[in-house]
Amino acid sequence: MYIKELHLDNFRNYDHLDINFDPKINLILGNNAQGKTNILEAIYLTSCGKSFRTSKDSEMIGFGANFCRVGVKAEKSNGKEIKIEIAISKDKKAANVDGIPMKKSTDILKNIYVVSFTPEDLRIVKDEPEKRRRFLNREICQLKGSYSTYLSLYRRVLHERNTLLKGNNIDRGLLASYDEELVKYGLPLIKERIFFYEKVAKISKSIHEDITGNKESLKITYEPSIPLAEEGNKTRTQKDIFFEELEKSREADIRLHHTTKGPHKDDIKLSIDNVDIRHYGSQGQQRTAALALKLAEVRIIRDETGESPILLLDDVMSELDSERQSYMIDSLGSVQLFVTTTELYEKVKDSFKGGKVFNISSGATKAKEADGSSNKEEISNNKERIKKNLEKIFK
Ligand SMILES: Nc1ncnc2c1ncn2[C@@H]1O[C@H](COP(=O)(O)OP(=O)(O)OP(=O)(O)O)[C@@H](O)[C@H]1O
Ligand SMILES: [Mg+2]
Repeated sequence: MYIKELHLDNFRNYDHLDINFDPKINLILGNNAQGKTNILEAIYLTSCGKSFRTSKDSEMIGFGANFCRVGVKAEKSNGKEIKIEIAISKDKKAANVDGIPMKKSTDILKNIYVVSFTPEDLRIVKDEPEKRRRFLNREICQLKGSYSTYLSLYRRVLHERNTLLKGNNIDRGLLASYDEELVKYGLPLIKERIFFYEKVAKISKSIHEDITGNKESLKITYEPSIPLAEEGNKTRTQKDIFFEELEKSREADIRLHHTTKGPHKDDIKLSIDNVDIRHYGSQGQQRTAALALKLAEVRIIRDETGESPILLLDDVMSELDSERQSYMIDSLGSVQLFVTTTELYEKVKDSFKGGKVFNISSGATKAKEADGSSNKEEISNNKERIKKNLEKIFK
């Protein structure tokens, strides 16, 4: 699939933007703080219903405005067009798919698939477990809408349970009822994580072998906080084990004032030839493993949905050496790429021949074909039209 058009109103530093993309390669060029990442953030928003850099939706509203709006038109692999619109006000978020209002913003999932790749992702291997869990949650949310619902329910109960644990004279009856709910919402998370891990482990191992020319072998292991049930064991199910673990850790939870066991404490272990690369890997090994993980995501989405996801590469090209850059570009096939960079290096230019280049300067955009043959303005500013669009969405 690919994104044909993006329309922004009052989004971050864009008053208004209408932009047409290339089906394959889109290079977004500009100095720092001009609005390059803002464009990727807008695309991501139409895929996942939230930003990749803030959990506060209202931060995306342009300074001084009351609403923002993002719209995309995309084409699926079967040639069908789809339009997604999201509007955000200070306290509300509304989404439309092909003009039909969605009940929840997560209802837009499973329309547009994106994989984002930032310098932060390159550090995923050595960062704290929370970053790896976030990777996991984001990817599974795209593939499975119900995961996103269970995740927010789980987080709500976890928050309530932790609030209870912070107090004195704990109501044990209430604690037990939170345990029931933690297990109820946590079990589907464990189940989906097992499924995703198995795929990601297999695919990233093979990508990693390709990148390293079979010199190294990457192994990914799921390190669940709640031990996994033996397959087919009906007498001690995953549910039984989850309850047992909460029971065992209850006194520690009370003493430490937080919930010490559960999917919110899971991790992934990455090792090469049985050496844990989080602690012992070289920077190169850690980056190659991160690249393999990201490319595995692209493949998993393609396998599971039949659609090639859109790849957003934010500032990441300059962090990869030329070998890894070429591997990535060559292995992507028909994936639509969005690449932000402050400088168009000769090397990058060669890899991206034939695409479109957008020069960004303070939230204004000019686009031209990568070969420089045409140079058309892609921006217009029409406050009246913005107002009408927003009124339509919030009606
Ligand atoms: N809600 C907002 N309203 C208006 N402007 C905003 C808002 N949020 C961020 N900005 C502006 O957007 C700009 C940053 O945009 P962005 O992060 O896309 O930059 P960038 O081109 O990717 O820069 P870099 O190369 O440093 O990554 C800053 O000038 C910031 O002040
Ligand atoms: Mg940026």
